[in-house]
Amino acid sequence: MTKAKHILLIIGGGIAAYKSSELIRLIKKSGMTVRCVLTASGAQFVTPMTLAALSENEVHTTLWSLKDETEMGHIQLSREADLVVVCPATANLLAKMAGGIADDLATTLLLATDTQVLAVPAMNVRMWDHPATQRNIEQLRADGLVVMPPDEGDMACGEFGPGRLPEPPAVMAEILRHLGGPNKSSALIGENELGRNPLEGQPAFAPDQHRPLHGKHVLITAGPTREPIDPVRYIANRSSGRQGFAIAAAAAEAGAQVTLVAGPVHLPTPAGVMRVDVETALEMEAAVLDALPSDIAIMVAAVADWRADSRAEQKIKKQKSDALAPLAPLALVENPDILAGLAKHEQRPGLLIGFAAETEKIEEHARAKLAKKGCDWIVANDVSGDVMGGAENSVHIVTAGGTEIWERLPKPEVARRLVAKIIEEI
Ligand code: CTP
Repeated sequence: MTKAKHILLIIGGGIAAYKSSELIRLIKKSGMTVRCVLTASGAQFVTPMTLAALSENEVHTTLWSLKDETEMGHIQLSREADLVVVCPATANLLAKMAGGIADDLATTLLLATDTQVLAVPAMNVRMWDHPATQRNIEQLRADGLVVMPPDEGDMACGEFGPGRLPEPPAVMAEILRHLGGPNKSSALIGENELGRNPLEGQPAFAPDQHRPLHGKHVLITAGPTREPIDPVRYIANRSSGRQGFAIAAAAAEAGAQVTLVAGPVHLPTPAGVMRVDVETALEMEAAVLDALPSDIAIMVAAVADWRADSRAEQKIKKQKSDALAPLAPLALVENPDILAGLAKHEQRPGLLIGFAAETEKIEEHARAKLAKKGCDWIVANDVSGDVMGGAENSVHIVTAGGTEIWERLPKPEVARRLVAKIIEEI
């Protein structure tokens, strides 16, 4: 039996701090141990007593405890952990971390640790959008920390937008990903070495309810990819990721183990789904190959077809003041076709489904794509209207056996029907 993994959980000050209680419960339930460090402002929202009771460990709040220095020095406290999780990470805490400031126990531990740090930000949308916060996050990522993107939605302060703390099951999935990653085979479904059930967190089912995808690993890509040109500019597209996320949710509800490789989108992770965030097509390809084997793969992402041949290290400056002067051309190279690569892969999923965005001759183009990409089905979106980024979808399902047309439906309904069709097929 391998030693239980240990988490050091640093809780910053914000209304979302109350969610740390649920996170501690999930960490403990997965068989790991957890020790909490509470900042002074965190203690305005949750009490050390609650955290001690839930974690079944002493809670640390101050740098100046002699007892801690003799029995549990702050260096030791941070280094005994397999992963340091900062949740919620406030704008202030992120700024201190990015600047290397160590003026309390939490920031001192973060500067002293040589363990991987996962920061889970939560703050007001304007604080999140502020260039200073974005700069700090970029710095932290460059320093090797993992910063989870926040969820988007209604905030405690009454505003709407990105900045909400992701739900505890999503944070838990991220923790597990860093401590071992998703299971690699449907044969591994059950208890893994962490004593964790990979289907943990999926919606509850009545005992008589059928879970037709139980034991199947479903791999899904979603959202756009973002191809950098220089530190501030990129090539992207309008994909919102909604359709792919809805399919991930529907597959998880049907009992599947789901790996969702997501481009940059502001969407909450569906319950029970293992999410891997990526930015570029090359990162998406690597994450897809890393998630194999899978029984079913559904490539919904709107992968950018091209990337800049080379990424400028510094912001490219405007060269001429004369607006009529020709601009320096931007050299592009083609990205790998992830779907076509998967079709030829030795671990090709048993059922491989591609999506196609078409504006005309939908069935004809989709059928050509089916042959060209070597997949089993093409779900062709008619993107001539406001489908891209919208709430509804109108699709043609093109297979070797024929074509089905589903007129304009909400994206979750397209997802449910697609999962039902997959269940029929396998
Ligand atoms: N796809 C992929 N990797 C790429 C491009 C596309 O995996 N580099 C996948 C998409 O996820 C989708 C399918 O291929 O499942 C079709 O994407 P689409 O953009 O419609 O097709 P393209 O091959 O880019 O063809 P075109 O833009 O010329 O219509």
